[in-house]
Amino acid sequence: MADKVAFITGGASGIGAAFARQLGSRGVEVVLADRQIGLAEEIATAIRQGGGQATAVELDVRDASQFERVVDDTVARAGRIDYLFNNAGIGVGGAILGYTLPDWYDVFDVNLRGVAHGIQSVYPIMCRQGSGHIINTASVAGLLPTGEAASYAATKHAVVGLSKTLRIEAKEHGVKVSALCPGAIRTPILTTGKYGRLNLKEGAETKVMELWEKLRPMNVDVFAGKALREIERNKPIIIVPSFWKALWWFERFSPSLSLWFWGKLYGHFRDELEPYRLP
Ligand SMILES: NC(=O)c1ccc[n+]([C@@H]2O[C@H](COP(=O)([O-])OP(=O)(O)OC[C@H]3O[C@@H](n4cnc5c(N)ncnc54)[C@H](O)[C@@H]3O)[C@@H](O)[C@H]2O)c1
Repeated sequence: MADKVAFITGGASGIGAAFARQLGSRGVEVVLADRQIGLAEEIATAIRQGGGQATAVELDVRDASQFERVVDDTVARAGRIDYLFNNAGIGVGGAILGYTLPDWYDVFDVNLRGVAHGIQSVYPIMCRQGSGHIINTASVAGLLPTGEAASYAATKHAVVGLSKTLRIEAKEHGVKVSALCPGAIRTPILTTGKYGRLNLKEGAETKVMELWEKLRPMNVDVFAGKALREIERNKPIIIVPSFWKALWWFERFSPSLSLWFWGKLYGHFRDELEPYRLP
């Protein structure tokens, strides 16, 4: 991966930051693009101190023209973009009955429109280069039924779908496309992240984390190492940790049995969250 340039949205935290650190240590020049510019700067500085090449840029992926501008600046400076990690994401937790329209739109704007903005800005550049790899971060919530994450699941299913379409179109231009589907990874998004929200009473974070612990969240650096190996193999749909692959297989084998299973599991989580419902 040496001499390559990676543009990573959501590079200030969690999965994006872990990718940046690991790619930086392998000689890839990384651009950390995030709303949290202070955090992105800190990570870029640490990568440079370790001998890597890293730049932090302020980017709100909801803003298409800002996205295009920072991408153009990157190409003007670094000459190319070899990897686009369309990774920035947020979640809104809670049952659909308690949703407002912003609970849908805020998630669509970051997780889906943000990905589209990344593709519009970078894909033509990669086509001109005749090479590149776009990694769109979806989720196992883009493959399986999940409770209390409707707007999130909608965007992640959409990201899987658009990635498959882009993959077959992009091949003739020499551009690779993968949908990255993490399971539960220990990052701030488990409680919806800096810009997301739980539509639950104050104090629910602790309960939500307690529920996540049952799914044994993976350490983010271990996750990034495993995911990068799959990216290097140009896998179309990358699922890490791998036990989630069995659940995806089960979903395709029998969607109705899978719905029954996830419904049962959801019933358990719903009961645990009942004391935290907003009136
Ligand atoms: N952690 C998990 O268990 C998990 C599971 C499945 C999918 N994912 C996905 O992985 C991706 C990364 O999430 P994470 O787990 O590292 O969470 P995180 O909260 O640690 O990181 C998300 C990053 O996105 C940035 N961001 C949010 N809105 C933005 C915007 N409008 N413009 C630019 N940056 C913005 C945040 O500042 C943050 O740095 C997300 O797309 C998430 O949905 C995570």
